[in-house]
Amino acid sequence: MTGGSMLPAASSTTGAEYKHYEGRITVYVLLTCLLAACGGLMFGYDIGISGGVTSMDDFLQKFFPTVLANKRKVGASKNAYCKYNNQKLQAFTSSLYIAGLVSTLFASLVTRRYGRRPTMLIAGLCFVLGVLFNTSAQNLLMLILGRVLLGWGVGFANQAVPLYLSEMAPTKWRGGLNILFQLAVTIGILFANLVNYFTGKVAPQGWRISLGLAGIPAALLTIGGIFLPETPNSLVQRGKLEAGRTVLRKIRGIDNVETEFKDLQIAATADAELIQNPFKNVLLQRRYRPQLIISVLLQFFQQFTGINAIMFYAPVLFQTIGFASNASLYSAVITGAVNVLSTVAAIVVVDKVGRRLLFLEAGFQMFIAQTAIAGILGTAMKNTPSTALSHSLGVLVVVLVCVYTSSFAWSWGPLGWLIPSEIFPLDVRSAGQSIAVSVNLFFTFLIAQVFLSLLCTFKWGIFLFFAAWVMVMQAFVLLFIPETKGVPIEEMELVWTRHWFWKRYFKMQPMQNHINCCNNNNTDLPSADQLIKLDSNLTSLTAAADSNSLQSTQNNITANSATLVQMG
Ligand code: BGC
Repeated sequence: MTGGSMLPAASSTTGAEYKHYEGRITVYVLLTCLLAACGGLMFGYDIGISGGVTSMDDFLQKFFPTVLANKRKVGASKNAYCKYNNQKLQAFTSSLYIAGLVSTLFASLVTRRYGRRPTMLIAGLCFVLGVLFNTSAQNLLMLILGRVLLGWGVGFANQAVPLYLSEMAPTKWRGGLNILFQLAVTIGILFANLVNYFTGKVAPQGWRISLGLAGIPAALLTIGGIFLPETPNSLVQRGKLEAGRTVLRKIRGIDNVETEFKDLQIAATADAELIQNPFKNVLLQRRYRPQLIISVLLQFFQQFTGINAIMFYAPVLFQTIGFASNASLYSAVITGAVNVLSTVAAIVVVDKVGRRLLFLEAGFQMFIAQTAIAGILGTAMKNTPSTALSHSLGVLVVVLVCVYTSSFAWSWGPLGWLIPSEIFPLDVRSAGQSIAVSVNLFFTFLIAQVFLSLLCTFKWGIFLFFAAWVMVMQAFVLLFIPETKGVPIEEMELVWTRHWFWKRYFKMQPMQNHINCCNNNNTDLPSADQLIKLDSNLTSLTAAADSNSLQSTQNNITANSATLVQMG
């Protein structure tokens, strides 16, 4: 068991207070986190670049001539909502995500066996190769191969970077530092939108510049993979205790890191050795059910906010409602900028107001914006380009898209990555993260692959479809997402044991591992009976805790925990 129940909170066991570790936020930790976050830049650039590129005529002429012919043919007789509806064109966008989905399963193994840093290095190298293929593509095959390599990079980067940030960050700053990843994603998207805006005017090879400039974030991440330190958690998990202690001292900026270090050790040794197959365990064991369900649903819901309908296809969407090519790329830049600024807002407030409040506020904002967009499109622009939106209504739609994007950017965007990276115990953290990334990429793929077809079928109703999902998400957050603000990552189990619904998964769970471990015929280890006795001691000590005896209770608990570690 990881941390949690072996290490009860320093104070009340029923309140919302958790152990406090010494240390501050250092320049060193900030710089390493900034460099690591470059993995997000690459993900964002890939998200943002495809919509602009696929709306460029030169690109379509070279790789998708039928789409171009269709686009030019669209007249009053044809449905404007369908002008980009082409499976191959959507495959260009979506192939990256399906490749990412497969690669993240390998990435999990690398992250666990060799650490977070080599995983980032592999991501950087895949990105560099993918960019080379894409920018020099002579045919569709080269183009798709490049996208697949970029997808491998995304799978490795999205696996390692959020974990890296959560493990390096001091508890108090974990939310903010982890959101650096999402900030990098949004900067990547904005950068891609800006690049598209300019290269759209560079005929006939502008698209090559767009795809080639992805080399910048790719190189940055590769450099990061070479120079960044490994996380203390990963070092300790792989038995490199001294190295782990040294990094911990450096990133916390103090010499005495023993309390946190001991908890890391307990977290790493108590379970890690028992877990041979983290994937099987995380999928089948009851005690990981809450983290698993929440992580999977967070990713599913994140994509069903409809965000990537905007991020991938904003230029295409704006052209659909009647904007000229330039105006639509320009509007995508505005949306991208709002995305970045709102993510900064999330960094500032997430460790103060908490995760739940951000989710709930944003849900209402998204719902209102989406239904308003549907209303405008539904009344003003039924089917054809001849009824394209008036200028003022067009501007209103852009404003509403910004309202929607901003709320996503301080809620489902960053929290979709933050929460899975902080709720799994260390022993299954890589596997849990990998499942979260795969689910995210699967649904990203799905949206990329079907959005243009859905737009063609449902027209403006597509926004109502996403709005309805947002309401389901509100209920889910309200009932099932516990607040994780300020909870040390190694004490996260307490959050579940105190939750009205999830606590049912934790009855007697703390002992289960040790009972399992002691049924191994290993006579050096304590018997199950001994352990149960020890555990009941811990329970009564915890129950006895009140404000006067708190310190001695804590000492007893720590002593018992240490005994357990020595024994097991
Ligand atoms: C999501 C992406 C999305 C991006 C937008 C990320 O958190 O995973 O799918 O495109 O946010 O900023």
